[in-house]
Amino acid sequence: MIFDRREQVRLLNQDIMGEHDAILHYLTHAWTVAYHFGPQIDQIAKDEMRHLKWLAHSVVALQGVPDLTTPQVIPVADIRGALEADIHAEQVAIAQYHAHSEQIADNRIQALLQRIIVDEECHLRLFREFLDQQHGQPWGAEGDPEAVAALATKLQALVAMEYQQVISYLFSSFVSIHMRAIGMDFEDQAVDEMKHLGWIGEQLASLGYAPSFHQRPMGDHEMTRYLEVRHWSQLHHPALVPLLDRIIGHERYQEEMVPDGQWTVGTMIGAQNLRQTTDD
Ligand SMILES: [Fe+2]
Ligand SMILES: [Fe+2]
Ligand SMILES: [Fe+2]
Ligand SMILES: [Fe+2]
Repeated sequence: MIFDRREQVRLLNQDIMGEHDAILHYLTHAWTVAYHFGPQIDQIAKDEMRHLKWLAHSVVALQGVPDLTTPQVIPVADIRGALEADIHAEQVAIAQYHAHSEQIADNRIQALLQRIIVDEECHLRLFREFLDQQHGQPWGAEGDPEAVAALATKLQALVAMEYQQVISYLFSSFVSIHMRAIGMDFEDQAVDEMKHLGWIGEQLASLGYAPSFHQRPMGDHEMTRYLEVRHWSQLHHPALVPLLDRIIGHERYQEEMVPDGQWTVGTMIGAQNLRQTTDD
């Protein structure tokens, strides 16, 4: 276990270099040989940019200096070579994050590295799908109309809930003091919720339903709802499970990172209820 601050910074700087390396390679691949998957690989590169940002803020919070040395971009001849290199990069990153999260003693950093691993595992899966040329196959709209309607109802509830979460985290980001801290801040969390909203909304729209943003009743627990939908999907729509697992991984990090005595979605709801009771 590493308790020394400088040693923790050294490991995090290795992670920053890995992210930097991935960003340059993925962008290059998206623009050149892998143009067919360009927009998807571009999105993955954007995830890596956010990882780099969180790691760099964490390094600064530990009083270190982020290492932004430009990595070498290794040229590839064709899309196959590019995707194989990208798969390898994700495997190396996942192994390194696991190793660092076991070594670094600070539990806020452990939680952040675990949160990043959730994304890297999804990237690995996507790059493998691109390599299989199977990406983008429709899965939802066909089949038993009753099952499709049941799925749409569940997705709709998630859309409304995620929308609520976006608003709550944005509110927290507006009212909280701006400071560099280890891990993700409220604005980062709001962006995560916007991504969840987008992913679920997209799935719902692909079933032919228009998403509605009506507010759910206050106090609904996000993780519980996702675990329910995941359980149901395993039986009825297994293709949805990897996406749900990615979101559940994000939600788990949010639950772990709820800091004491600060604004959270929960305390905000509590504060609103309090305000309502006081107003009465
Ligand atoms: Fe990353
Ligand atoms: Fe990645
Ligand atoms: Fe969410
Ligand atoms: Fe959430």
